[in-house]
Amino acid sequence: MENKTEKIISLAKRRGFVYPGSEIYGGLAGTWDYGPLGAEMLHNIKEAWWKKFVSDREDMYGIASSIIAPEQVWAASGHLKNFTDPLEGEKFNTMFKSSVGALKGETADVYLRPELAQGMFVNFKNIVDSFHPKLPFGIAQIGRCFRNEISPRDFLFRVREFDLMEFEYFVRESEWENHFEYWKKEMWNWMEEAGIDKNKVHELEVAPEDRAHYSKRTIDFEYDFDFGKKELYGLAYRTDHDLKNHKLDYYDEETKEKFVPHVVEPTFGAGRTLLAILDSAYSEDELGGEGRVFLKLKPHIAPVKTAVFPLLKNKPELVKKAREVYEEIKKEIQPVIFDDNGNIGKRYRRQDEIGTPFCVTIDFETLDNNSVTLRNRDTGKQERIKISELTAVLKSAILR
Ligand code: GAP
Repeated sequence: MENKTEKIISLAKRRGFVYPGSEIYGGLAGTWDYGPLGAEMLHNIKEAWWKKFVSDREDMYGIASSIIAPEQVWAASGHLKNFTDPLEGEKFNTMFKSSVGALKGETADVYLRPELAQGMFVNFKNIVDSFHPKLPFGIAQIGRCFRNEISPRDFLFRVREFDLMEFEYFVRESEWENHFEYWKKEMWNWMEEAGIDKNKVHELEVAPEDRAHYSKRTIDFEYDFDFGKKELYGLAYRTDHDLKNHKLDYYDEETKEKFVPHVVEPTFGAGRTLLAILDSAYSEDELGGEGRVFLKLKPHIAPVKTAVFPLLKNKPELVKKAREVYEEIKKEIQPVIFDDNGNIGKRYRRQDEIGTPFCVTIDFETLDNNSVTLRNRDTGKQERIKISELTAVLKSAILR
């Protein structure tokens, strides 16, 4: 029998969430391509994250830094020496190396970033000069990172390129523990809001010998995947390691002190988030005597918000009315799908399988009294509702 992850992988491929990378050439290990529904869902995850941790706050500065950085950055950060995995008794550096420049003798070694954090540190002075933030404050970013993992595996869990969502929160050394506790709570809140089953998440106090080279304390948030209990997110106290090594400091204009701030860093893999959400949302039940699969996604994460159907494809007056309703809803809510393929039961099942929270059906009664049926994904229940109220009802259920 297929396990849950295998079922999710096959659903993801069949319905256009995630495909194996370069598949028509036999694939490339550790790469996956997001299809239309996966790209939409990944976008929703990043948008929700940015809203919670950047736009809704006054103390966070969002940036988008370069993927490529010169060797000096990785020497200062310690990645050149320490970002390694053991391989046949040797240390194997998992950063992807490349070079910039065309002319012989004028090329320089560069590395694709394995984490976002260094982009925040090398821009620390820029942010301070432009915005004069008072401590504590954070610099945040979402972006692609690259790691030449020795053995990529478990679908989106361990890949060679992935999106990270991460911030560096700069604090006074004496206050790091309070901030650490605060961000730990906020990470739990985020998981709840995103639709990650919190009963499957466990905190792990990472032992000193297992911590990254820059960390004095790390908590991993582990998730019970069916391939094992594995790291979903991390929360690290990076001390003043990075700013000190980049020879950066901070001048407090009120107290007239100059010092190196300390850093608390919450980090979230976007692909692992998507995988944990799919795992949490994947459900099977029986409806009307038939087995069904549905994704119990939160509406703000679901790739499609609403589907609109004419009851019958071959009745032009139903199709016309359904298209009108579809165009109306679409002005305020996106994406909305119009579907007139197959019978109505099959259409519902197709939407259930991709986690669409609501389906709207236009039937003969609609032509009489301008009401439609609104079907709820999780219960399968339908209610009649006036078209004039439809968009407002959907908006309040879907948009946050
Ligand atoms: N700046 C801190 C940092 O990079 P990390 O624990 O090495 O910390 C951060 O990585 C997060 O990135 C992890 O918690 C995980 O969510 C995600 N991640 C790490 N390696 C990954 C991989 N090979 N594939 C997918 N996600 C990965």
